[in-house]
Amino acid sequence: MSQTHHDQNATILSRRRFLKGAATGSAVAVLSPWEMVEALVAGEAKDRTIRGVGVKPGVVAISSNENPLGASPRAIESVLRHMGSSNRYYRSQSLVGALAHYHGIDYKPAPRQPGRSRQAGPILMAAGSGQTLESIAHTFLEKEGDEMVAASPSYGSIERKWEDNKGVVRLVPLTPDYKHDLDAMLGAITPKTRVVSICNPNNPTGTIVTHDEIEALVDAAPKHVLIAVDEAYVEFVEDDGYKTAIDLAATRENVIAIRTFSKIYGLAGVRVGYSVAHKDIHERMMNYHYTNGVGLYGMVAAEAALQDAEHPRRSKELAIEVKRYYEKECEGMGLEYVKSEGCFMLINLKRPAKPVGRQLAKQNIYVADAERRWGLKGWTRVSVGTKEEAEAFMTALREILSPAL
Ligand SMILES: Cc1ncc(COP(=O)(O)O)c(C=O)c1O
Repeated sequence: MSQTHHDQNATILSRRRFLKGAATGSAVAVLSPWEMVEALVAGEAKDRTIRGVGVKPGVVAISSNENPLGASPRAIESVLRHMGSSNRYYRSQSLVGALAHYHGIDYKPAPRQPGRSRQAGPILMAAGSGQTLESIAHTFLEKEGDEMVAASPSYGSIERKWEDNKGVVRLVPLTPDYKHDLDAMLGAITPKTRVVSICNPNNPTGTIVTHDEIEALVDAAPKHVLIAVDEAYVEFVEDDGYKTAIDLAATRENVIAIRTFSKIYGLAGVRVGYSVAHKDIHERMMNYHYTNGVGLYGMVAAEAALQDAEHPRRSKELAIEVKRYYEKECEGMGLEYVKSEGCFMLINLKRPAKPVGRQLAKQNIYVADAERRWGLKGWTRVSVGTKEEAEAFMTALREILSPAL
């Protein structure tokens, strides 16, 4: 496709029409899926040509912390190249090797022994980090009444499985500035505790804890307690003081760090995640963890995405720009928000979140109701969208709230 064609499309999609489209759900001119792929792979796609990739025209999907810029173009290209091999089982360990290299972890693929399942190592792939979180619950909850400690509000995936399996979850409220209270979490550990779950940055608040704080918790906690650090949004962090827990996971025997390709790499629908931990932890998890859960497309997409420095850079840059815009708009409307290190933001609407969500949904704008999901009365969680999606959201929100502003 020619550059002129792109420019024409970009012009057609003026902000006005986009807002109109978002507001009414009416059809707006968009690129076909193939044109979109071409534009992404050629590096020609701008915010305007991308808008809302993966959803119907006019829909503003900012409820699930997905990447509004789409998948890494290199990942898309790699999937397209490998489609012809869809009939073959994909047995390569190349992604694990690439991840080990990326994190500076010492790793040699163990030769597969006939009749034995794959051997555990420091990296365990998963069909999305959600699979890892569930496997942690299945593995470390040994008997009814075993306990885990988690922050509240937080993502909650391990906690839900833990309770489903008759475990006890000790929830520790966040501090008044919405951070994990690691001292209180340490204090909540009992002889029955098996896991302490930390989400860093935390979803839904976007707040972080420092590496020193996590290390102090690891040092102080009993060695049989697994410290699970979910780093789904690590690549979006702006704070220079932040450091990943991968080093602790690679060197300690009771720390696991969990990562995903769903967020900054834009591969949520493909389902690729992984964990870094001592191989004995992974060996235990592998009794419950289907190790072939990531298929050919996931493997090749993730490996290509990992080599793509440009897409994560653009995604982080957009997230920062949109968060600053959300902050400014909230300040203008007198709404409280939590400063976020993720690709989302919590906003206090100061009124029941559900009716506001319903009114936004009428305009095809979808946000997460933090009241329903986390019991945060009056709060909504909004993901970063493209700049136009962000504007569409704020314009609609201002209109909905205007009688009270
Ligand atoms: C903190 C956190 N962890 C894990 C996940 C699960 O992501 P996935 O299963 O797509 O890797 C999410 C998804 O939103 C999340 O917010």
